[in-house]
Amino acid sequence: MTAKLNWTLAALFVVSMVANFAVRPDPGVPNIDILPDMAHSAAYASFSTNPVLPDGKTMQPPVPGTLPRGFKPLRYQAGEQEALRASAELTNPLDPQKAKERGAVVFQNFCAPCHGGSLRGDGAVALHGFPAPANLKGEKSVKLTEGQMFHILTFGQKKMPSYASQLTVNDRWSVIAYLKALQNEPVAPAPVPEAPK
Ligand code: HEC
Repeated sequence: MTAKLNWTLAALFVVSMVANFAVRPDPGVPNIDILPDMAHSAAYASFSTNPVLPDGKTMQPPVPGTLPRGFKPLRYQAGEQEALRASAELTNPLDPQKAKERGAVVFQNFCAPCHGGSLRGDGAVALHGFPAPANLKGEKSVKLTEGQMFHILTFGQKKMPSYASQLTVNDRWSVIAYLKALQNEPVAPAPVPEAPK
């Protein structure tokens, strides 16, 4: 009795395998779609081919020579000459009084770890072996124009890394407004957490 059952099950198994190969289902497509309207949108997916558009792609490149609304291109490259050009041409577009508040937050999070709340280059990172940055209250740094600072924050300068990917254009100008205020007036410096021992 058991042998008969086993042979029947084995035969059914072989039949189902042969049927599977004969039908060759697409493993990427489910056999049954429940409420398919939710899964399959009528719109073309961004990366799918498209029979309507001339190049056969759904996602189209921007028209040459156009810019996204609100986007201002920065026509500078890295390097000393370009920093000098930025120094001569760029001014802070923000109202310094309003921008300082946001600038203080940016400074505390992104700059104080190296430059220190006092600007003297004694931040926690510098105390732990990173080459100490110049004193931003020093004569050379105080003379830096806002345009040149913007170039430094955007492209970096020697060991000072670029902050273009972490800080938006507005955040860069805000922290510059804050920095200038700290350089020019005796504003209370941002508090900096103690370096861990
Ligand atoms: C990883 C450490 C580090 C961080 C973080 C950092 N800096 Fe610097 N920064 C430096 C070093 C080092 C220098 C000196 C570079 C050089 O030798 O020219 C420098 C130089 C500068 C200078 C030029 C000073 C001069 O006299 O040429 C400015 C301005 C400046 N940093 C602003 C900032 C601001 C604003 C931030 C925050 C957005 C910041 N830095 C974050 C390390 C850092």
